[in-house]
Amino acid sequence: MCGITGYIGKNKKAIDVVINGLESLEYRGYDSAGIAYVLDNKVNIVKEQGKIINLKSKLDFSIQSNLAIGHTRWATHGEPNQINSHPHSQGKFTIVHNGIIENYLELKQELLENGYKFKSSTDTEVACAYMDFLYNKNKNILLTLNEVSKIFRGSYAFGIICSDDLNNLYALRKTSPLIIANGNGENYIASDVPAILRYTNKYMLLDDMEIAKISNDKVEVYNKDLKVIKKDILEFEGSFESSMKGGYEHFMLKEIHEEPTVFKNTINAYFDGDFKNIPDLSKYNNIHIVACGSAYHTGLIGKYLIEKYANIPVYVEVASEYRYKHNFYDKNTLVILVSQSGETADTLASLRMVKEEGIDTLSIVNVVGSSIARESKYVIYTKAGCEIAVATTKAYLAQITIFALLTMYLTNNKSEEILNEINNIPSILEENVNIDYNYIANEIYQNQNIFFIGRGIDYAICMEGSLKLKEISYINSVAYQAGELKHGTISLIEKNTPVIAICTDESLLEKTISNIKEVKARGAKVIFITTSDIVGDFYDFKISVSKVNELLQPITTIVPLQLIAYNVAKLNGCDIDKPRNLAKSVTVE
Ligand code: M6R
Repeated sequence: MCGITGYIGKNKKAIDVVINGLESLEYRGYDSAGIAYVLDNKVNIVKEQGKIINLKSKLDFSIQSNLAIGHTRWATHGEPNQINSHPHSQGKFTIVHNGIIENYLELKQELLENGYKFKSSTDTEVACAYMDFLYNKNKNILLTLNEVSKIFRGSYAFGIICSDDLNNLYALRKTSPLIIANGNGENYIASDVPAILRYTNKYMLLDDMEIAKISNDKVEVYNKDLKVIKKDILEFEGSFESSMKGGYEHFMLKEIHEEPTVFKNTINAYFDGDFKNIPDLSKYNNIHIVACGSAYHTGLIGKYLIEKYANIPVYVEVASEYRYKHNFYDKNTLVILVSQSGETADTLASLRMVKEEGIDTLSIVNVVGSSIARESKYVIYTKAGCEIAVATTKAYLAQITIFALLTMYLTNNKSEEILNEINNIPSILEENVNIDYNYIANEIYQNQNIFFIGRGIDYAICMEGSLKLKEISYINSVAYQAGELKHGTISLIEKNTPVIAICTDESLLEKTISNIKEVKARGAKVIFITTSDIVGDFYDFKISVSKVNELLQPITTIVPLQLIAYNVAKLNGCDIDKPRNLAKSVTVE
């Protein structure tokens, strides 16, 4: 949800650094982009609707500025036009913002009564004016930022320039992520690590309500009592190259091709040593898995495996529902939060809610040091590396790998059989990611409705396949429990409606085939994805996936679905890595 970057330094052209940084954060939002840079002691703003490429065409890259802030937007308040784009400026302040100021209407009213006027319909312009308003009273930037952090409700990461102090760049954060990276005679701020990786892999995380005052040579971080505090320096394990496309046409395709390695890395991290830092999970009477989107779908797979093999009841909830409903947990409940970014607002809020009740929390997170990881009692990092495409693929695969491992851990299953299976998975995945599914995509890409059906764990996989397809190809698609279709939805099946039917749980093969025959009889074009070698006239296309141990089966079954979605989106000419209306990290509720 919006990416921000900032640079102050003697060595580089600030505009270059900020634009490069924004380009690697464009996955966070791409409705508009803008930059504010200092030249001859004046703050200049250039902003443009649409992607960063539009902004670039308006910029003079020969300008030698040593201080700039930039923004790529996922619109929340006001339509994504040029006026609503960031940076916003009011009085002496110019800011970029990721997040939402919930009480902005109240603040706006107060500012209007005090003579402020607004050009945009954004909460950010109000935040900016409010900083100016307080600063006019106290003439102290740190005090102003400290005061706003107590007044603003909601979430924010701000990059701030004050025209009274052009030797410093300021930053302030609550809930939305913000990092600060150090160079030699230069410093950077960014929403996420990829923005700084071409310069350094060392960075610090700004915590809630902390303020950073950053000059060429110095970074001072103040806590909420305005005391200077020391921050840990973290090191990012990946390289700049690894966060780039590496010859693939899209990040999504590159990330699918990384899946064999992601699987290996995740297994290597945890299989031998178990989960050193987590408690004995069998002591819990029940487990709640809370997450959003694809991460929620991995929870459904986790539920299936843990309930079947470890015999512990598992309830899987969408985070945006969980936090507002009556939940049944007690001291014997473990709440597992799943999140690639570790910053998803509803998942984070659910975590905070259950923590307040004294419930144990375990997060399964990809981004090291993210809010969900830091605030959970226990954390397991997925080893997916930096995921850039908005549609998650390799992080999803890493999350289901963790659920398989947790199930093995809970059941103390380290049999030779499972070990052999684990050792075989990377080569199966390697083969799978290289299969061309264009022939399937060609059959379905012009349809307006596509159905996914399956039973049990296959239904959970269908949900992810369906989300992937609609997310990037804009084709309406629904996942249904195969046996449930005839209770209403089957009325939508007509001649040539694509139905992707999945059956890897062969104990349910006959039942699933009966359901497939029901849709086939009504004209559906059936794509049958299965581990079984059964043949028949009940499908139009059959995709065979290798049969592996049930704990690991979803890991190999998901790959064709990801690739079919990718190919369909490509045939439809969609913007695969940056699908419309979406953003990688959903830091709004
Ligand atoms: O960062 P998170 O895993 O918490 O994100 C949750 C969802 O927003 C995310 O999985 C989303 O559904 C993906 N874009 C799906 O590809």
